[in-house]
Amino acid sequence: MNKLEQLYEGKAKKVYSTEDPNVVIVSYKDDATAFDGLKKGTITGKGAINNQMTNFLMQQLEKAGVPTHFVEELSERETAVKKVSIVPLEVIIRNISAGSFAKRYGVEEGIVFDEPTIEFSYKNDDLHDPLINDYHAVALKLATWDEIDTIKKYAFQVNDFLKKTLAECGVTLVDFKLEFGKTADGTIVLADEISPDTCRFWDSKTGEKLDKDRFRRDLGNVEGAYQEMARRLLGK
Ligand code: C5P
Repeated sequence: MNKLEQLYEGKAKKVYSTEDPNVVIVSYKDDATAFDGLKKGTITGKGAINNQMTNFLMQQLEKAGVPTHFVEELSERETAVKKVSIVPLEVIIRNISAGSFAKRYGVEEGIVFDEPTIEFSYKNDDLHDPLINDYHAVALKLATWDEIDTIKKYAFQVNDFLKKTLAECGVTLVDFKLEFGKTADGTIVLADEISPDTCRFWDSKTGEKLDKDRFRRDLGNVEGAYQEMARRLLGK
């Protein structure tokens, strides 16, 4: 499979067309941004780690019954995935208070919820990805009720799987963001990535942050945290 034309360049990835109209190649970059693109930097080795971690998790999620866009890992940084149209919703699941939740509701980080929460943001750069509820998403025709029901079901399945898998590696899953896409035949599949860029991971014993918050908050040892997650989850 070969990269033909660059279709898109995002903050952390580039996407290329291939000979197959239903398959694109994603290439992960080391570039990092935070705070709506205001903070920019590089996390050396991040692209390779995020690519391999995403692929490892997506292949297991497929087996656990969550359809994904994954087709084939091509190299350290590149993966063939199904071509989808992205549903313009960021789907965020939280098990523990942190980040924007703690800020918005004026609570400390680290409150363990009795049940996971779900929320949506409207993926729209001009509007800075505002929070949106499911009724608004349907009103704006971003998705149908059926699609939203499917997305919620898969998102909680991903949470159950990830929480368990990470707990076995001594990592607590605090929260994470998912994106879903629609294939040519209208099937909803998990897309984008699952990585320290898109999840909050805390060491189960020490509470040490092992994710992009080290970059966002200038905590130091950013690369070390990504490498530690790769070591624990992928054994490398
Ligand atoms: O910032 P906030 O607390 O809302 O983030 C919740 C989770 O979603 C975090 O794990 C964060 O890394 C992820 N997220 C993301 N991309 C965004 C916003 C949040 O991956 N644009």
